Amino acid sequence: MSAAPQRAILISGAASGIGRATARLFADRGWQVGAIDRDAAGLASLADELPGACWTRPLDMTDRDAVIAAVADFGDATAGRLDVLHNNAGIDAKGAFADMAWDTIAAVVAVNLVGGMSLIHAALPLLRATPGSLCLTTASASAIFGQQGMAAYSASKHALRGLTEALSVELAAYGVRAADLIPGIVETGMLSEQERAMLPKEGPFRPISADEVAAAAWAAWEGNRVHWFVPAELAPLDLEARTQPEGIRDRRIGGSPV
Ligand code: NAI
Repeated sequence: MSAAPQRAILISGAASGIGRATARLFADRGWQVGAIDRDAAGLASLADELPGACWTRPLDMTDRDAVIAAVADFGDATAGRLDVLHNNAGIDAKGAFADMAWDTIAAVVAVNLVGGMSLIHAALPLLRATPGSLCLTTASASAIFGQQGMAAYSASKHALRGLTEALSVELAAYGVRAADLIPGIVETGMLSEQERAMLPKEGPFRPISADEVAAAAWAAWEGNRVHWFVPAELAPLDLEARTQPEGIRDRRIGGSPV
């Protein structure tokens, strides 16, 4: 009897934070990891950490030709397998929308939304060719209720959530699942020291580790839900946002994301 083929995951934004933790977890479980990021040094140190298990390609998510080439080359490296695409790279921009430079707003949309869609579109042939595959996106609690002071970021994350919901229906025809991670506040390089100092110690916006989000990525692989809230206490907030968004808006929970 032949051995089961090695599973493969391609992760964007894999050089640090949530993407890096996900790379470690899947590699630990015997998967072949493809890691893409604009941080070449971070990718090199990840490859050192996961010898033999990690294919890397430095690129910018806004460079469509580079994204297409990376997907094709990773597909060659895995003999056409892609069990999980983790569309995870993202940037934020803090400040009032009215005062924000247009280039900053456009960059958030270009990386988070257009870059993410570009990666998913390029990877679909591999996902469709791999039975039981999963198209996983890192959204955010900013996709529960638009976050004051992060309007462009919230808009990009709401759009990714909508994309995931639509794809979870469309891609079922090809046997491909689609899901997203909806993390609250994660202790990564995205948080400034000032933000860390202001964070609540408990509740849905307590800081969580990137490893907890990686564990949710694994749960999404094993499970069959569209949205994965991390921590789980964000789910009731989501329900409230769907039914009574004004309550959340008027409360402005502790200066936290919603
Ligand atoms: P991070 O800053 O540690 O990781 C983001 C990675 O994306 C970095 O390695 C960065 O180099 C890469 N990246 C950024 N722009 C890129 C581009 N144009 N091309 C290629 N790579 C690029 O932050 P974190 O927290 O791990 O972020 C991962 C995802 O999680 C993002 O989509 C973020 O929006 C989301 N998220 C983060 C939360 C947090 O509190 N840290 C909460 C909810 C969602």
